[in-house]
Amino acid sequence: MTRLFLIAISLLMFACTSTQKKETVFNPSKMLDISAKKIKKTSLELTNSEEFLRNIPKDSVDWKVVGVKDWCSGFWPGVLWYAYEASGDIELKAEAERFTTPVKEIAYTPALDHDIGFQVFCSYGNGYRLTGNEEYKTIILAAADTLATLYNPKVGSILSWPIMVEEMGHNTIIDNMMNLELLFWASKNGGNKELYNIAESHAKVTMKYIVRSDNAVFHVADFNQETGEFVKGHTHQGLSDESMWARGQTWGIYGFAMSYRETGNKDFLNTSIRLADHFLERLPEDGVPYWDFDDPKIPNAPKDASAAGVAACGLLELSSLVEDKVLKEKYFNAAKKSLEILSSKEYFSGDKNKALLLHSTGHLPNNSEIDIPIIYADYYYMEALLRLKKMEAKNK
Ligand code: GLY
Repeated sequence: MTRLFLIAISLLMFACTSTQKKETVFNPSKMLDISAKKIKKTSLELTNSEEFLRNIPKDSVDWKVVGVKDWCSGFWPGVLWYAYEASGDIELKAEAERFTTPVKEIAYTPALDHDIGFQVFCSYGNGYRLTGNEEYKTIILAAADTLATLYNPKVGSILSWPIMVEEMGHNTIIDNMMNLELLFWASKNGGNKELYNIAESHAKVTMKYIVRSDNAVFHVADFNQETGEFVKGHTHQGLSDESMWARGQTWGIYGFAMSYRETGNKDFLNTSIRLADHFLERLPEDGVPYWDFDDPKIPNAPKDASAAGVAACGLLELSSLVEDKVLKEKYFNAAKKSLEILSSKEYFSGDKNKALLLHSTGHLPNNSEIDIPIIYADYYYMEALLRLKKMEAKNK
């Protein structure tokens, strides 16, 4: 009897352990599959395709929406394109098309700010990549020309926030690095060749004035718009001028890696490496940064899952660009580890709400979007999972 009891207990313990093991094995394909299904369900419930998902407030389980002019309008159609890419589901393609169409307006309206890249390249850019739809290409090229109208040749960079000129002069922000991809792409796909020079010059100016000697970045650099002279570096969304705002650092890692991919300029590669190494040195053990690395409230400060997602994309890009095997593995493993944690119960929302990821922070000093789901976290999470899946398939 006792023996039977012991055998039963052992079997039970074995079953529990293997279930636990099953639950903890990180599988990018499985996460993409679960995510694509959730995204589809959400999209099919949305009746107005001119409303774009932005964030889920603390007291809600559903998305708060914004109009097409919001800087985040391209991310929801982008999420849908990634979900279509992951699943091949034709209904998701139709949903992606439905939410991409209204973004056209951005390409043909005078530029409000540098975010045209996020808005149009995440929506139409992915749409064109996946469908080859020629109308999409025309719209992307128009968007690149519109973004280029913000270029100031005296400074050699794009004006990121026209609305802030009175306060800051010609301002260029680290986030703007991400929007150079639209210009590089357009210059190589039938657009004006000058767009390439604008993007390259912008990256060089950012490297010179925004990347600091401590291997972190300013959020903003101000310049005299008449003379082009550098005035100062400072923060807008970070804790302080000299602190390390997490998402800013990751825009830099990704933006400089992408700029190296597009130009072959090794200075851009080395800059991305510097920013990545510093980011990884200071990253908390769980692979997800606090919103600002210098917040004195750490470990009781909010995290930013969106920065972890952007970093994962940038690190995977970097891993594919560096030649050194040790560095290749370092960046690949760091990205994979972060994605694994983002896919765990701690960060993956499951049925808690309609987003994929919990715990992102948008603009803490403004008391806005703190420790909640934000659409660009879902966007870069999907992108990073797809990148990881492709790289793992290639390395097999
Ligand atoms: N580009 C704005 C942000 O990262 O919050």
